[in-house]
Amino acid sequence: MKVLVVGGGGREHAIIKKIKENKNVEEIFALPGNGGIAADATCVNIGAKDISAITDFAVENKIDFAVVAPDDPLVLGAVDSLNEAGIKTFGPNKAAAIIEGSKVFSKNLMKKYNIPTAEYEVFTDMDAALAYLDTAPIPTVIKADGLALGKGVIIATEREEAKNAVRSMMEDKIFGDSGNNIVIEEFLEGPEVSVLSFTDGKTVVPMISSMDHKRAKDNDMGLNTGGMGTVAPNPYYTDDIAAECMEKIFLPTIDAMNKEGRSFSGCLYFGLMLTKNGPKVIEYNCRFGDPETQVVLPLLESDLLDIMLAIWDKKLENAEVKFSDKSACCVVMASDGYPEKYNTGFEITMPQDKNIFVAGAKIEDGILKTSGGRVLGVTEVSDTLENAISAAYETVKSVSFENAYYRNDIGKKALMAEVK
Ligand code: AMP
Ligand code: GLY
Repeated sequence: MKVLVVGGGGREHAIIKKIKENKNVEEIFALPGNGGIAADATCVNIGAKDISAITDFAVENKIDFAVVAPDDPLVLGAVDSLNEAGIKTFGPNKAAAIIEGSKVFSKNLMKKYNIPTAEYEVFTDMDAALAYLDTAPIPTVIKADGLALGKGVIIATEREEAKNAVRSMMEDKIFGDSGNNIVIEEFLEGPEVSVLSFTDGKTVVPMISSMDHKRAKDNDMGLNTGGMGTVAPNPYYTDDIAAECMEKIFLPTIDAMNKEGRSFSGCLYFGLMLTKNGPKVIEYNCRFGDPETQVVLPLLESDLLDIMLAIWDKKLENAEVKFSDKSACCVVMASDGYPEKYNTGFEITMPQDKNIFVAGAKIEDGILKTSGGRVLGVTEVSDTLENAISAAYETVKSVSFENAYYRNDIGKKALMAEVK
C-alpha cells in the first residue's frame, strides 16, 4: 500500500512511524513532512493547506490511503476533496471538523445535547461583550471562535485584562476573522486530561489517556504553547471517571454530531477538565493532539493502519484497539524563546536508535538543523511513569543543539496524583 500523511510536525512523525509497522505498507509520503520525518517517509514539498495540490498528488501517485493530521486542512475540507477524487482517507470531513473549527458551534452543540462544559455566552458585538464583562465573575475565559494556532484562549484574572482581550480579538483582530465572534466562559478548575478517541461515527474507542503541559516554563508558568511535553496514561483519569466520560461525554458527542448531520469519522480529541462537579469538556479537537500522539501511539499495541482502514469501512467495532499497560513520557525540546522569538539553523545531534519525533527540523547540506519552535519530542516507554520520565530525561541528555530549551518538570504533576 502507498500511504500519504498530510502534515509536518512531531505528531505526524509519530503517526508515520506507527503506520510503517504495517507489513502491507510499501511507501509513505509526507506532505510536507520535515527533515527528521525524511528518515521514515518520502517528503514532498506541498503545504498542508494546499488542498488541490495534495489531492492532485494523491491521484497521480495512486495513493491507497491518506491521513490528514493537522486542524487547518481538515477544517478547510481536505478530506472532502480527497474523497471526491476517490482516495480513502482518515479524518473528519469539513462538516464534522467544525467541532474544532468553531468554538461557537461546539459550545452550542454541548448546550443543545446536555454535554457538560463551562457556562458561556457568545458575542458578535464588542460593546455587548464589554458590558457583560462589567459584572461577569472573574477570573473569566475569553475564546476566539475560530482556529488561532492554539493561542485563541485568554484566561483573565482581572476585569480590565478581560476587556483588553475582547478588544484585541474583536477590534484589533489579532486572530483575524477568528475573532469576529467570541465566547466568554466560566473559569473551571481541576486536573486536565486529554482523551484521543477513534471513531467511525458509530463506535467510539477512547485511546489511553494523557496529560499535556501547555505552558512554556516549569510549574505551569510562562506563555501557552502548542505543548511542551506529555505523559500517558494520565493517573487522574481513573476507571470510574472514564466510565462517566463515556456515558456523559463521548457517546453523547458522537450521537449529537450524527443528529446534526455531521457524522464524525477519524480521531476526536476530548480536552477535559476534572472539576469537583464532574468531568467537563474544555475543548474538542478534530484530530490527534500534538504532543499527546507522541506518548499515545508508542503505547498502542494494535496496528494503527488496520484501525484506520476499519474506520474507513465503518467497522471500528470489529477492530482490535489494544494499549500496553506501560507508561510513556515525551519531553519536547524547543528553541529557546519559543513561543515568541527564537533562532534556528543549528545542527542537531541525536541518537538514531531512540523514539525521537522530529517536529521542527530541516536538512541542509546533508546536516539536520533546527527550523522551528518545537524541534523534537523525546519519548520513552517504561513499566512505571516514574521510570518513563527519568528515561526520557536521560535520553534528552544525549541530544544536542544550540539554544535547546525544555521543561524540567514534565510528568511531575502526574506523579503527585499517583502518590495520593
Ligand atoms: P484551548 O486552546 O481551548 O486548549 O485552551 C488552552 C488552555 O486554556 C486549556 O488547556 C486550559 O488549560 C485553559 N482553559 C480553557 N478553557 C478554560 C476554562 N473554561 N477554565 C479554565 N481554563 C481553561
Ligand atoms: N496538545 C494540544 C493540542 O494538540 O491541541
